Amino acid sequence: EPTIIKDKEQMRRWSRTVRAEGKIIGLVPTMGYLHKGHLSLINEAHKHAHLIVVSIYVNPGQFSPSEDFATYPSDFDGDIQKLMSLPFDVDVVFCPHDLYDYGTNSMLLESSNSWSDGGEETEERRGKMVSCLEDRGILHQTWVRAEKLENGLCGKSRPLFFRGVATVVAKLFNIVEPDVALFGKKDYQQWRIIRRMARDLDFAVEIIGSKIVREDDGLAMSSRNVYLSPEERKKALSINRSLSEAKSAAEKGKIICKELRSLVIEAIQESGGRVDYAEIVDQESLEAMEEIKRPAVFCVAAWFGKTRLIDNVEIDLS
Ligand code: PAJ
Repeated sequence: EPTIIKDKEQMRRWSRTVRAEGKIIGLVPTMGYLHKGHLSLINEAHKHAHLIVVSIYVNPGQFSPSEDFATYPSDFDGDIQKLMSLPFDVDVVFCPHDLYDYGTNSMLLESSNSWSDGGEETEERRGKMVSCLEDRGILHQTWVRAEKLENGLCGKSRPLFFRGVATVVAKLFNIVEPDVALFGKKDYQQWRIIRRMARDLDFAVEIIGSKIVREDDGLAMSSRNVYLSPEERKKALSINRSLSEAKSAAEKGKIICKELRSLVIEAIQESGGRVDYAEIVDQESLEAMEEIKRPAVFCVAAWFGKTRLIDNVEIDLS
């Protein structure tokens, strides 16, 4: 059974003790509601480290007031069960109550818990949450930003999202002091930003990207898939299907990005989805390209009903 640590000082003490014994620590940061995608990262971590820390923290700093912070799915007991079903030990589950240490945040979490318990979202509650988020933004002054990488793709419609992600991951690195940390390529831009941050800021952490885990029918696994109605769930398959088609078309010589993008945009629209973006970008710089002449990644975000899904496929013709 994993040791559950909530306190960041205790987390740091544990980490320093085992490090002094020469142990290699692998960290897998998550927001909980674990699925096979998360478990595959933990599996990868097991290959690179002696001891494994899984963090579960729904980071308020990466949600905008209009997003689903208050209703983000959670199932702590289920998560622990899943971790215990792995064929090896997860040593620590780090689940801090509040990584920002501001009183307002616990109020925020309290109100959000009652919402996820099925309580009604009243205007008062919502207002309280929004003002807490604003308070937090004012109180927290130090943010990590990847100036270029954070601008395109998801950064366009979620302008403060990667700031929140990079900052909380930097905090986790400083608290857990891992030797390696695992991130899913499902969130390709996030993975690239974290890698870049570790390099630019000299974090002594090796960042490893892990391949996308999919449902049997091809839908990329995501904690947010539970929001989809059965009908939306079926329609959403157009994302992966059209991305795969684009990849094989590219491999057959169709390398003009504009054409490949239309293929995907039309397929998603036809299925009833609303495309946020469909971009073919350089795997490293995430800059858009006109023709696939270097390793590329085709990234998509699309809405099905009230749920925004992301997916991508790497296309390397070399
Ligand atoms: P979360 O969405 O819980 O994802 C945790 C990790 O699991 C991320 O590295 C994500 O890329 C990976 N992951 C999710 N679905 C996956 C899939 N289908 N295949 C492979 N990997 C998958 O991403 C976050 O949390 C947060 O932004 C976090 C990094 C924890 C910072 O708060």
